[in-house]
Amino acid sequence: MALNESRVIYPGSFDPLTLGHDDLIRRVRRLADEVIVAVAETATQSKRAAFTVEERVALIEQVYRDEPGIEVVSFSGLLVDFARSRDARVIIRGLRAMSDFEYEFQMALMNRSLSPEIEVIFMAPDSKYTFLSSSLVREVCALGGDVSEFVPPAVLAALAERYGTGSA
Ligand code: PNS
Repeated sequence: MALNESRVIYPGSFDPLTLGHDDLIRRVRRLADEVIVAVAETATQSKRAAFTVEERVALIEQVYRDEPGIEVVSFSGLLVDFARSRDARVIIRGLRAMSDFEYEFQMALMNRSLSPEIEVIFMAPDSKYTFLSSSLVREVCALGGDVSEFVPPAVLAALAERYGTGSA
C-alpha cells in the first residue's frame, strides 16, 4: 500500500537523530516517493542543545546520503507554512506511547486549524524504540554512557566529538 501522496514531511528537532527516527523515516519512505526530513530551527535554540541546526542537517544528510527520496532541510516559522511552501499535504509524526499523545494531538489540531488542507498522520516506530528519545541519548552520552545501540554510526561519532566521550 502507498500513500496517495508523493511527498511527505517528517518534522522534528532531531538533536540528534536516533534509530527511532530512522525507523520511522524508512517506514514512511516505503509509503511515499519523497520524504522531507524537516529540522526545526525554532526548536533548536535550547541551551541544552547538542548540535546546531546546520550540524543536525549535515549529520542526517550523511546518514541518508546513499538513499534516494530522502531530503533533509531546515525550516523556520510555522510547520504548516513550510509544508505549503514545499507543496506537501501530509505531515508524519511518530507516536511512541500514550504519553506522546496529548501534545501530538494538540499540535495536530492546531496545525489543522491553521491549514485545513494538511493532514497529520501518526505512525508507531518499532516497539524496541518506544522508550528512546533524543534528550535521553544526550543525557546518557554527556554522562559517559554508551549510546551505540540507539543512534546511527555517524551520529555516534559526532556525539563522541561533542561530549568528548570515548564510548560514544
Ligand atoms: O522533535 P520535536 O521537538 O518533538 O518536534 C516538534 C516540532 C518541531 C515538530 C514542532 O515544535 C513544530 O512544528 N515547530 C515549528 C513551529 C510550529 O509550527 N509551531 C506550531 C505547532 S502547532
